Amino acid sequence: MNIDNQHFRTIWPDPTNNESIMIIDQRQLPHKFVIETLCTLDDAVIAIRDMHVRGAGLIGATAGFGMHLAAVQAQTGQLADALKQGAESLDKSRPTARNLKWAVDRVLKAAENGKNDDEKKEIVFETACAIADEDAAFCKALGQHGLQIIEDLSKAKNGETVNILTHCNAGWLAFVDYGSATAPIYAARDAGIDIHVWVDETRPWNQGAKLTAWELQQEGIPCTLITDNAGGHLMQQKMVDMVIVGTDRTTHTGDVANKIGTYLKALAAHDNNIPFYVALPSSTFDWEIDRGSDIPIEERSGDEVTAISGLAEDGSLQTVQLTAPETRALNYSFDITPARLVSGLITERGIVAADRKSIHQMFPEK
Ligand code: MRU
Repeated sequence: MNIDNQHFRTIWPDPTNNESIMIIDQRQLPHKFVIETLCTLDDAVIAIRDMHVRGAGLIGATAGFGMHLAAVQAQTGQLADALKQGAESLDKSRPTARNLKWAVDRVLKAAENGKNDDEKKEIVFETACAIADEDAAFCKALGQHGLQIIEDLSKAKNGETVNILTHCNAGWLAFVDYGSATAPIYAARDAGIDIHVWVDETRPWNQGAKLTAWELQQEGIPCTLITDNAGGHLMQQKMVDMVIVGTDRTTHTGDVANKIGTYLKALAAHDNNIPFYVALPSSTFDWEIDRGSDIPIEERSGDEVTAISGLAEDGSLQTVQLTAPETRALNYSFDITPARLVSGLITERGIVAADRKSIHQMFPEK
């Protein structure tokens, strides 16, 4: 993705020294574009936990590189322990995104193939890089599959603007590149299709307002920010042609965990006969959990609800209190959209119905 015409991924090894990892500190966007260096396993854990990086794919890539940092720091003869401890700390950093454990397990398994610690360290780094490269490649590929849906809608509207609603940020910033929900949008733009995106602000962290709107603007995609509660009304007014969201974890039976509020959008889309698609690289599938209700839902601090942050007049980023000081707040970060409300899952292999049989047919090796 381009920022001021320069291509960036969201995470990359320091080119002068593969022993540290560079990220974009997303807490400061869209006001400040700050590149942060992660030097230790703890840096990676904090970056995930405190949302310097966020979004399923990027959390997975950061976890992969976090394992690399654990290996870099390991004392002679202590690599196995360092990787075990790295896996435990990373696994606990955020509970819902499936890509986190998937990446950690993939690194651990790959490391077993090394004949000695030096070789294992090399494999850990190569695997972390492969996870990041694959994430970008899968998002690009799923964008081409999702393009078909937008093309069909455009044809049905005789080339009039296709209005797409999205929730939270399943964009470039949530992955290594392209994004999941945004990849079909970028592909449609490249194909010359007239599109416009409704961006849910996505309280309380405001990923839509702060990240998706900025990201789409950087890419020159027409978009309009809306309050989280506006979607149903826009759908009733026929101002939405389709919904595309991302997901933090999707069961192999088709239930979708995504940012809190997604379920309400799916209900409104269903009631208004509007297609509701979920875009994901296959690393987000959970092949063990059968029911969405068994997915762990992260509960974050109520402070994210009672306070709000933004750019002050003096140019500094500030957090201000929104509510009366003693107000209690409950802050579930994700909800579950049942498979029956999902029109299809857009994956790197193609579009698949959100049911166990279809998903397993598309991924028979699982
Ligand atoms: O809490 P976050 O920002 O890490 O949540 C992740 C998300 O941005 C969304 O849930 C997104 O739609 C899916 S992640 C690709």
